[in-house]
Amino acid sequence: MSSMPSDPLPPPQTQINGHGEEEPLLGHRPPPPISDDEAVCHTLFRNLYTSTALLAQIGGLAFVIVVWVANLKQPLMLFTAHPLLNAIGVLLLLESTLLLQPTHTPKQKHTGAIVHSILNGTAFILMYSAFVVIFVNKLNHHGAHFESAHAIIGLTTYILMFLQATVGIVQFYLPNVVGGEANAKAIYKYHRISGYLILLFILATAISVTYTPYIAYVLKIRTWFVALCSVVILAGVLPRVSLKKLW
Ligand code: HEM
Repeated sequence: MSSMPSDPLPPPQTQINGHGEEEPLLGHRPPPPISDDEAVCHTLFRNLYTSTALLAQIGGLAFVIVVWVANLKQPLMLFTAHPLLNAIGVLLLLESTLLLQPTHTPKQKHTGAIVHSILNGTAFILMYSAFVVIFVNKLNHHGAHFESAHAIIGLTTYILMFLQATVGIVQFYLPNVVGGEANAKAIYKYHRISGYLILLFILATAISVTYTPYIAYVLKIRTWFVALCSVVILAGVLPRVSLKKLW
């Protein structure tokens, strides 16, 4: 008598659902513990997208994409580097601000300040290179310097950024210059206030550029669009400002 083919054996318990024998009966295995440094990095990284930070990211990225696309659609020239470098610089400054909103533990503050200074340092190199580019470009074309609203607000922004960076470097890396760490820490709140003011100057520079003839008639980047990006950026950044750290 021919026997029916027996049912295939059920998969061994160890393979059901892909879980191993060591899987606890109740719930999943807890994730492996992470080191202190990793926890700090996670917190800082989460600051870039949690709560209203996502709005700031959308506004900042929309601005960068439109500036890059509009410029790259035109023939490349020396001028092109000015908007491209400045737009990336602005985005890096935005990231370095969001990163510190907020930090709580001394380790978060210390690591946050180091990453903040690296991002800002990179942004400054890009943005001051953009300044050299536009300055040389104007010299080449015998153009008048610092005439338009964009040029005047932009120059003011560059000067404020330089002062801000100098104070930032002194308070964190060279506290002895101001008589020690306690004095340096007393300056932090002014650095925060001026940082947010500089953000306003940067956004005003970006909005005012839409009134320059090349941007208005050739690149056609609209004032309302840059103003909207600015509002969205501020809606992302301002609610995260800790008032008690400012006063
Ligand atoms: C937000 C960061 C920016 C800063 C701080 C800045 C700063 C400046 C400064 C100081 C000048 C005058 C240079 C001179 O007169 O020798 C200038 C000129 C110019 N920039 Fe910017 N800029 C920024 C972003 C941009 C962007 C994103 C664009 C284009 C989308 C742009 C387009 C121009 C144009 C067309 C000029 C020449 C017309 C003028 O003198 O107003 N800039 N910028």
